[in-house]
Amino acid sequence: MKPVKIGLLGFGTVGQGTATVLARNAAEISRRAGCELIACKALVRNTDRELPAMLSHVELVTDPASILDDPEISVVVEAMGGDEPARDWLLRAVGNGKHVVTANKALIAQFGDEIFAAARKTGVDVAYEAAVAGGIPVIKAIREGLAGNRINWLAGIINGTSNFILTEMRDKGRDFADVLTEAQALGYAEADPTFDVEGIDAAHKLTILASIAFGVPLNFDAVYTEGISEISRDDTAFAEELGYRIKHLGMARKTEAGIELRVHPTLIPERRLIANVDGVMNAVLVHADAVGPTLYYGAGAGAEPTGSSVVADIVDVVRGANSARVPHLGFQFETLADTPMLAQSEVETAFYLRITAEDQPGVMADISRILASKEISIEAILQKEPDPGSTRVPIILLTRKIREGSMDSAIAEIESLATIHGKIMRIRVESLG
Ligand code: NAP
Ligand code: HSE
Repeated sequence: MKPVKIGLLGFGTVGQGTATVLARNAAEISRRAGCELIACKALVRNTDRELPAMLSHVELVTDPASILDDPEISVVVEAMGGDEPARDWLLRAVGNGKHVVTANKALIAQFGDEIFAAARKTGVDVAYEAAVAGGIPVIKAIREGLAGNRINWLAGIINGTSNFILTEMRDKGRDFADVLTEAQALGYAEADPTFDVEGIDAAHKLTILASIAFGVPLNFDAVYTEGISEISRDDTAFAEELGYRIKHLGMARKTEAGIELRVHPTLIPERRLIANVDGVMNAVLVHADAVGPTLYYGAGAGAEPTGSSVVADIVDVVRGANSARVPHLGFQFETLADTPMLAQSEVETAFYLRITAEDQPGVMADISRILASKEISIEAILQKEPDPGSTRVPIILLTRKIREGSMDSAIAEIESLATIHGKIMRIRVESLG
């Protein structure tokens, strides 16, 4: 079979990681694909750079047409990021009958339905394994490996940058900003790192995971999103004293009332495997009816781990595996369900609360009275000594499960007490049992 020529839109961390894996493992990959796969051109903004010898065969170009309209190129890899012009160019590639492989979760989560519809028209593949959890083949696992199951819920550490920051803060007491700078230097972070630390990147990934798990259209706007920027070293230490780890978690759960979609910092019992997933590693725990719980673990970001997923997609596309066998979201398009998405106020979960209070009698009684009036039960209390010279103490509470709307009104009432200072820190708690 003739070699397959690949054009890359973007030649940064992911683009170069992909070309490196293709070049270094060329013989092994061609035995798998049935033909040679060659990364021949890469689109960049600035061609003034020196490439390693292994990538010297890749021609750097600045005109997208030289890839999108090149009849020799049959597979386009989108590794640029962002909404536009990535969406426009990807649709043009699809319109020109080229298969597309993308690592861009923002694009799939927001415009996937449009892109898949265009691909169905021209009969090409759009593959996106690298868009979720870097090097972990979790899209393939859920869409194909779990095809016999009804999925109940899934929970994942799906942003490598956030997990790296939380781990370094906990283990080495490092500052948030300092670790974020390192994550950027290592190529883990998004071009705009607020996407990582404010949970938007994880929300993009959760949108995709929920669609392939439950067979619903992509619904990014329905995801409740909180990042890690408010987590302090104190919260990390208090959580550990109570036997928990704080992880930034994406959760999708199917309930009788609808689907919960949420991304936020979460206290997880430290004995759970997923609580021990550290650094840039990601993990996705899927709970399904036939198989029970399964856990997928691996590098969540970085050049070659992500390149590994992109190359796997290219091999699938070249084998003709996807379009023939696997619908884009794993379920036949006409059967995608119109299941309602739950508002966050309807979600039931347990909570960690850190309250800064005056160190005086009666404060705890007031807090307990307000919680009891909303039927919120306290599971554990941790009360610390005030710092020398201060009259304020942190009070840490763990509650039992309660509807989030009830917790919102309890927090508002407690914050209005004269003996309470500032905002109450609230972190959700999941047992993941
Ligand atoms: P990156 O290192 O910043 O690389 C982006 C590349 O795209 C650069 O080569 C850049 O050109 C090129 N580019 C961007 N806009 C362009 C434009 N308008 N015209 C021409 N070229 C353009 O980004 P990355 O980390 O590889 O991420 C790329 C995508 O992969 C993103 O969607 C990201 O979310 C996703 N992803 C990243 C990782 C990771 O670990 N980094 C993992 C999974 C998925 P110049 O070099 O000339 O600036
Ligand atoms: N910025 C992303 C992360 C890249 O840190 O997880 C991988 O998708």
